Amino acid sequence: MTQLPGLLDTEAIRKDFPILDRTIHDGKKIVYLDNAATSQKPRQVLDALNAYYEQSNANVHRGVHVLAEEATALYEGARDKVAAFINAPSRDEVIFTKNASESLNLVANMLGWADEPYRVDAETEIVITEMEHHSNIVPWQLLSQRTGAKLKWFGITDDGRLDLSDIDEIITEKTKIVSFTLVSNIMGTVNPVETIIRRAQEVGALVCIDASQAAPHMPLDVQALQADFVAFTGHKMVGPTGIGVLWGRQELLEDLPPFLGGGEMIETVSMSSSTYAPAPHKFEAGTPPIAQAVGLGAAVDYLSAIGMDKIAAHEHAITEYAIKRLSEVEGLRIIGPTTSEDRGATISFTLGDIHPHDVGQVLDELGIAVRVGHHCARPVCLRYGIPATTRASFYLYSTPAEVDALVDGLEHVRNFFG
Ligand code: ALA
Repeated sequence: MTQLPGLLDTEAIRKDFPILDRTIHDGKKIVYLDNAATSQKPRQVLDALNAYYEQSNANVHRGVHVLAEEATALYEGARDKVAAFINAPSRDEVIFTKNASESLNLVANMLGWADEPYRVDAETEIVITEMEHHSNIVPWQLLSQRTGAKLKWFGITDDGRLDLSDIDEIITEKTKIVSFTLVSNIMGTVNPVETIIRRAQEVGALVCIDASQAAPHMPLDVQALQADFVAFTGHKMVGPTGIGVLWGRQELLEDLPPFLGGGEMIETVSMSSSTYAPAPHKFEAGTPPIAQAVGLGAAVDYLSAIGMDKIAAHEHAITEYAIKRLSEVEGLRIIGPTTSEDRGATISFTLGDIHPHDVGQVLDELGIAVRVGHHCARPVCLRYGIPATTRASFYLYSTPAEVDALVDGLEHVRNFFG
């Protein structure tokens, strides 16, 4: 078995993930390489979800009975865990949403309805990048259409990095918000946060970071990042679907208006007007995703017990090995950084002129799960003049043997299509 420095004890870790033992297509053991789309869930998270529903299920914040108090303590306890996980200065800065898309839409709508000095209007500019997931493009397009604000973006270099050569022309005195991904969901690029934030701070612009592909894979410290908002999702970090997070700086959350109205987010309501609860509840209208938050709390416990720095080191070793092995496959072209520095464990590629959907289908027959398509980052495919890529994405339970299985599978694909 290939041994690489920095690897986790995957034999032990994989025992926590029942699904990784599944066989498909006549007894082939599943090789799950679609972690950028969603991660698998350990028993600890599944048990927490079950225990919640079996023992403590009730609505939160509104009951005086035992179950309501337990459910509230579990839900708010999950907020404490998430706050500690990202080193938030205050638990009240952690807003639970449905997913990262909702978190990013929330920021765009807060700014769209805000008063000065935050208001985005026709005199102002919004900055994103060509590397974004659609969920960090479309909300800003909608805001720009609604307000008349100009939407600008950083392009991408040939080797899959952000082109910041014209940073002073892109981020200007008119910029109200700069929103960008910390790690690309399609190419794995880790972006130079400090450079972008320094320029945004020079002109007084707010910064929103999409950390969906970062929070599961590396230590995330919102104080060190120095952004104003950070969005991520639970299901990519061994948590359940249906739970996302928006972290925001407390004074901003105090000043900015809510987006969704309803129960839970109010202080008082009369027929003519309402006042709002303090953050984070101001931004959590309606019954929240309680069980999902509890599951996310268990996910955070699980990842923290292993250690995010160790998970990052594991993925770095796997990525280095995968890049080396993939470069041995004739006709394979990596779309994105081809070195393991400043990149995550997500590798997109094309294979000669074989369509990625065909690659994905033949790999699936071998038991190997990858994602094919534009990965909700179509501008990246347009940038490189390709319709789609095949994407392999690794996580804490990925092994060098799975990289080998992928490479063997791709050789099979090449032979299959001649
Ligand atoms: N955002 C997910 C991905 O990149 C769905 O696959």
